[in-house]
Amino acid sequence: MPHRTATSTPHANRKDLHNIKRLLPYIWEFKGRVLLALSSLIFSKLAIVGMPLVLKDIVDTLGGVHPAVHAMHSGTTASVGQMLTLPLTLLLAYGMLRLVASLFGELRDAVFSRVRYHAMRAISQRVLKHLFSLSLAFHLDRKTGGISRDLERGTNSLSSILNYLVFNIFPTAAEFVFVAIILLGKYNPRFAIITFVTVAIYISFTLLITNWRMHFRHEMNAQESTANSYAIDGMLNYETVKYFNNEDYEINRYDKTLEKWETAAVKSQQSMSLLNFAQGSVIAVGVTIMMIYAAKGVVNGSMTLGDLVLVNTMMLQLFIPLNFLGIIYRALKYSLADMDMMLKLLDTEQTVKDRDNAGVLKINQAEVEFSRVSFNYNKDRKILHDISFKIPSGHKVAVVGPSGAGKSTLARLLFRFYDVDSGNIFIDGENIKNVSQQSLRENIGIVPQDTVLFNQTIEHNIRYARLDASEAEIQQAAKHANIHDFIMSLPDGYQTIVGERGLKLSGGEKQRVAIARVILKNPKILIFDEATSSLDSHSEQQILSALKSVAEKHTTLVIAHRLSTIVDADNIIVLENGCIKEQGTHQNLLGKNGLYTHLWDLQRKQIKQKEDVELP
Ligand SMILES: Nc1ncnc2c1ncn2[C@@H]1O[C@H](COP(=O)(O)OP(=O)(O)O)[C@@H](O)[C@H]1O
Ligand SMILES: [Mg+2]
Repeated sequence: MPHRTATSTPHANRKDLHNIKRLLPYIWEFKGRVLLALSSLIFSKLAIVGMPLVLKDIVDTLGGVHPAVHAMHSGTTASVGQMLTLPLTLLLAYGMLRLVASLFGELRDAVFSRVRYHAMRAISQRVLKHLFSLSLAFHLDRKTGGISRDLERGTNSLSSILNYLVFNIFPTAAEFVFVAIILLGKYNPRFAIITFVTVAIYISFTLLITNWRMHFRHEMNAQESTANSYAIDGMLNYETVKYFNNEDYEINRYDKTLEKWETAAVKSQQSMSLLNFAQGSVIAVGVTIMMIYAAKGVVNGSMTLGDLVLVNTMMLQLFIPLNFLGIIYRALKYSLADMDMMLKLLDTEQTVKDRDNAGVLKINQAEVEFSRVSFNYNKDRKILHDISFKIPSGHKVAVVGPSGAGKSTLARLLFRFYDVDSGNIFIDGENIKNVSQQSLRENIGIVPQDTVLFNQTIEHNIRYARLDASEAEIQQAAKHANIHDFIMSLPDGYQTIVGERGLKLSGGEKQRVAIARVILKNPKILIFDEATSSLDSHSEQQILSALKSVAEKHTTLVIAHRLSTIVDADNIIVLENGCIKEQGTHQNLLGKNGLYTHLWDLQRKQIKQKEDVELP
């Protein structure tokens, strides 16, 4: 399983910045709220920085007003009187500042939450929309699990990045600026310099050690996901594990991986302690130096005791949010990597695109024509060569041939899941390249080779063809597809949930649901891709008649494995290795004594053998 890695090369940093810039429009949609949240942030930080200032006054009042007075202070009754009246206001002010800090802090969160969650929603929607617009080729190449992971991590990363920026990085930076202003304004510049240097060393230490530690985290994540995939793969293959008595092998493999995980985890934890200690040392040294200078100031009378408390408190307060810097830095790196994955999804180009001024396909006759069509999925292997045939209006053309000949590919090209490499496909003389994919697909109904159903009710799965269909219409379609009676025999009837991908239904039942769906859609052109392949002979006969009545007056392309199902076709195309070998009616082709005759004889023989076995 691929796992994310966070890198910090200059190139990666530039990319991260670029990605963050791309997110701004989602946030700027709520300008007002963003500005309100930012001003709340500033107010709350001002209140926090104001607290040490008031604290200083309280201390000074309690200890005597002047440094000089303080130095000679001997505890007269006059100063006791001052002590009782003045601090009350200051103490109340101190309390008020705490209240204000908390109020604006929460206000910022409350106001910003709308921005954050709305941005998450907007970008998720945008990505999903983009995923649907991408071509089949993209989806066949990607694991669905991978996409949903990218999507989920991507949206979460958006939220985290905003969180880190708005709730940690901006506020800390603002606080740092306020503290610097106060220190510079009130005291000898050395206090501001000490603070600045301490913070700078602290940040560099944190980033350096965190970058080094990330390696252990990567290792942990990699081992963890390997262990998980072993466990899940083993569980999925539970029966196979039992067939070969391989429980020990599975458990060992799992445990070996966990052993590596354990080692990495311990290292990660230990390096965390190292980081914490390094951070603590920097603060200790910085604060001590600052205190020495402040104490000197008190001794020589240039500062009060309150001033000493102030510089100490301010510095310690400043380091509270910086404490999380390592964690935030790492999380931010991961979030940026996730964000990048998601934005890459958004940047994936569609391979099958509507023309700029694509028209709407208008169908009257529904005549289909393949003209010299060649196609390959990958460059090195041709699948279809120079295929030309016509399906006149209302006719039924069958395509037969060995597995892998390219039959389903014909259907995919007509539905424009892929664009042809050369040649053209026309419907009523209109090149399908020139019309919108939406209007083309509206007019084509497909019963695919493998039907996959939504894990919802049967009714929902049939209605999917036309979301506004009434219950009566759905049942009518089910009757035509010969599946109504079966559905009614289920305890929950049409409300039966079909299971993941429709696994609770048999292959034949699924295929009949797919047929009912197409009947409900009622398009002009029909494609049946081995629609009866997973049915036994009995059910096959049952729905062949259904198919026939559906296909009547429709232009139909039938792809068939079993030749017995298409003897009545107007034209039969025999495809082999992507080339048309023969074509004609059933009688016609039998007369030619070629590939078709060969296939026909083979299948006759098989059927006969089967009958001999079944009916001895
Ligand atoms: N998405 C794909 N990418 C690459 N090769 C494919 C893809 N789909 C099908 N093929 C290959 O194209 C050939 C024709 O496939 P298909 O049209 O499905 O055959 P069939 O005649 O059995 O329906 C097969 O050999 C198959 O392996
Ligand atoms: Mg096929």
